[in-house]
Amino acid sequence: SGGTGTAPGAASGTAPGVTVRVPAKVNVQLAVGAARPDGFHDLASVFLAVSLYDEVTAAPADRLTVTCEGPDADRVPLDRTNLAARAAELLAARHGLDPAVRLHIRKAIPVAGGMAGGSADGAAALLACDALWGLATPRATLLDLCAELGSDVPFSLVGGAALGLGRGERLTELPVGGTFHWVFAVADGGLSTPVVFGAFDRLAEGRDIPVPAASPALLDALADGDTTALAGTLANDLQAAALSLRPELAATLAAGTGAGALAALVSGSGPTTAFLVKDADAATAVAEALLASGTCRATHTATSPAPGATVLRAGTPA
Ligand code: C5P
Repeated sequence: SGGTGTAPGAASGTAPGVTVRVPAKVNVQLAVGAARPDGFHDLASVFLAVSLYDEVTAAPADRLTVTCEGPDADRVPLDRTNLAARAAELLAARHGLDPAVRLHIRKAIPVAGGMAGGSADGAAALLACDALWGLATPRATLLDLCAELGSDVPFSLVGGAALGLGRGERLTELPVGGTFHWVFAVADGGLSTPVVFGAFDRLAEGRDIPVPAASPALLDALADGDTTALAGTLANDLQAAALSLRPELAATLAAGTGAGALAALVSGSGPTTAFLVKDADAATAVAEALLASGTCRATHTATSPAPGATVLRAGTPA
């Protein structure tokens, strides 16, 4: 990725655009509490950014437009519901500006896949517009704007690893003592996050839901860079809910562990599944076996931690 791809409609080499690269995430722990009065759930979410990236380019235009390229581009909404568009509007409103910007998304993160792809585009657009418009918005304000856009958006800005409390947006950065290797299996179609939380509520009915808390053993495994220890502590409270909606994901999980993955879990609200493996060679082998099993549509190998949203190219300043 990266490279010299030209955004459709862009005047190659001359466009005064700003490009931001932004990572996907996997929740190595997702502890879900009871539904709150506002409909959100209290979480203890241990986010880990992975080296699977979208890129968002912001360039001057007469009005706000969004375009998208990539294998799943047809499934990305290009209207004002797109988090990148909402980020541009939010930042412009905050500064009394007109959100006249062309946003182009190069999408590699699975759409509605439980890897915060939409959130990533929101964080990237926020950073790209901030640079394009020369606003130099303080980091703390950018994080507040991200939290307004969605629960996972602040983490997309920050990257690395972090514990998210509240609805997941109140972040504490976490130390990571090594590189972890992953394979992600992309499922056919997406899952709606609210629908998965709804399934969680139905499964939780009549049960005592503990207050969500981060696992000390998992935080130690991350800090030590200990893949075996991390494999033993991965946990996703949304997994049963995602499997209730997409029972066929069980076969994907089994195919990955059968091929030698140290651990397998649903990524966030799914339906992407995540496989922790020993090293890069194991990642290649597990990815090949997953594709051959016929239980997924595509695979990605990736490492973590990965940096948060980063300006790659800034064209002529506006
Ligand atoms: O914050 P975001 O817009 O990404 O959340 C999407 C949906 O996911 C929410 O409307 C809610 O249904 C669900 N959600 C939740 N608890 C959270 C985060 C998200 O119930 N902590």
